Amino acid sequence: MNNKLLKIATLINIDDKVVDIGCDHGYLSIYLAKNKICNKIIASDINENALNNAIGNIEKERLNNKIKVIISDGLQNIDKDIDTAVIAGMGTNTILNIIKNSPIDIKKYIISSNNDYELLRRKMLDYGYFLHKEIVVKDNNKYYPIMVFTHEQKELTDIELRLGLYSIENRDYYNYLNNKYNKIINTIPNNHNNKIIELESIIKDINNYLNR
Ligand SMILES: C[S@@+](CC[C@H](N)C(=O)[O-])C[C@H]1O[C@@H](n2cnc3c(N)ncnc32)[C@H](O)[C@@H]1O
Repeated sequence: MNNKLLKIATLINIDDKVVDIGCDHGYLSIYLAKNKICNKIIASDINENALNNAIGNIEKERLNNKIKVIISDGLQNIDKDIDTAVIAGMGTNTILNIIKNSPIDIKKYIISSNNDYELLRRKMLDYGYFLHKEIVVKDNNKYYPIMVFTHEQKELTDIELRLGLYSIENRDYYNYLNNKYNKIINTIPNNHNNKIIELESIIKDINNYLNR
């Protein structure tokens, strides 16, 4: 299993009733069941082929009685007692649609989006969820922020919404962002003033984190 899914597994507690939305091959669910990380596990996907792969892998591990498999668009067909949802490896728009249309009140979302992290953090506030933890993992030379959202209220600053919650463990990631945005700013023509101002503000925030 990759680093991202391993890290997600560390954010799950024994009493959590978990659905893995977009489970694909079912690796996370299998890991949770095999290591007895929690007692209720649903592996779910919108795509029948993906789900068939998951079913095959679950059967190979003889975990059929530990993992329920459900075809579902987001949380539409999921058991009502589920309180924890993992959504990883999708774009922010898809993730936000799943959350907006959820018929279940999920207590904890563990999310690893492929893009638009700031939009995700801000929009989750509109849906009544506050960012409580953020860990960045590196897999195949790519950084993946993993975010935990709950209903528990929390004041979030603008810089936290933009860059995520500060952690000394994420320094590598901040250095990567610093290089990335400095490269981008150097390619912007001088007459694109607004873009330059926006990028300077992001770089200032990144340096704020780097200088802590
Ligand atoms: C790239 S895979 C991610 C697999 C795994 N979660 C991970 O992070 O490594 C994305 C999966 O999400 C599924 N998916 C996309 N939209 C979905 C939706 N609305 N509801 C459920 N699953 C969805 C796709 O079918 C695909 O299997």
